[in-house]
Amino acid sequence: PKVRRPKQFICTISDDRGEEATYAGFPISSVATPDTGKGIGDVISLLWFKKQYPKWATEFIETVIKTVADHGPAVSGAHNAKVTARAGKSVVEALVTGLLTIGPRFGGAIDGAAKYFKYADDNDLTPAEFLNYMKGEGVPIPGIGHRIKSLKNPDLRVTGLMNFAAENFPATPLLDYARTVEALTTSKKENLILNVDGTIGILMVDMWRALGYSEEEINEFIESGTLNAFFIVGRSIGFIGHVLDEKRLAMPMYRHPMDDILYDVQKAEPIA
Ligand code: ACO
Ligand code: LMR
Repeated sequence: PKVRRPKQFICTISDDRGEEATYAGFPISSVATPDTGKGIGDVISLLWFKKQYPKWATEFIETVIKTVADHGPAVSGAHNAKVTARAGKSVVEALVTGLLTIGPRFGGAIDGAAKYFKYADDNDLTPAEFLNYMKGEGVPIPGIGHRIKSLKNPDLRVTGLMNFAAENFPATPLLDYARTVEALTTSKKENLILNVDGTIGILMVDMWRALGYSEEEINEFIESGTLNAFFIVGRSIGFIGHVLDEKRLAMPMYRHPMDDILYDVQKAEPIA
């Protein structure tokens, strides 16, 4: 009798056993070559979601990736990547130091924004009740606030994503709700705008609802960190650009100017 050896790994997304490897059942050439009309959004919909998304959704995914690809050299991740490159490290080493800054404050508030705004909308919280709820949670509202962008200096990436949704999404109920929250937060402080992370997280929920996903499936995407992954993929493009820039410019090792550091060291007391 045939003895089946237990498998140590399971793979449900791609298969490299045939003549041509496949992404969710589609030969690579059927999505990779230009005449197929397929883009990175299609590749992501196959490899991350194992579905063929309609054009408006794959184009939204691509719009997100292009939109977050870079935001200059001063942001946490680009800064880390540049400093690491200047310490003589490789592209991959410098890239991961940049990626490691992506989290609840920088670029990685997307899952959190989706989670909390969805919770508030599902439970019919008014914006004031939502702010109160978040105060209880003891965390800043993910997806709200920006260091330099504000009502007076709007983030045109956010405007671009919202325009895309207005023109291409069947409906945007969660975004509509989030904008009522933004109206309240910006009335308190003008930089408490719905930021690019928040807009992406909220619009992804609207996208998935329009695609017919159940609430359980959407919650699972959020819990597993799927939404931050869009920022990770997109911003990798920019970080690599900054690392290559450093290498081309042959910049010396970086040392932070000491006059920009407040040295406040006390002599350590002995513990009896
Ligand atoms: N929710 C509620 N209150 C907030 C929020 C928020 N999201 N962000 C700032 N505030 C309040 C602070 O409590 C503080 O109030 P206080 O003056 O009464 O103490 C005031 O606004 C200033 O707070 P700072 O932390 O100094 O704000 P800063 O402008 O430095 O922070 C940041 C910007 C880190 C983005 C912040 O707004 C935040 O943590 N937002 C949530 C996380 C997030 O969405 N990050 C993604 C940003 S977009 C991107 O990285 C691509
Ligand atoms: C970004 O996209 O990196 C930002 O929105 C953060 C920033 O401070 O510019």
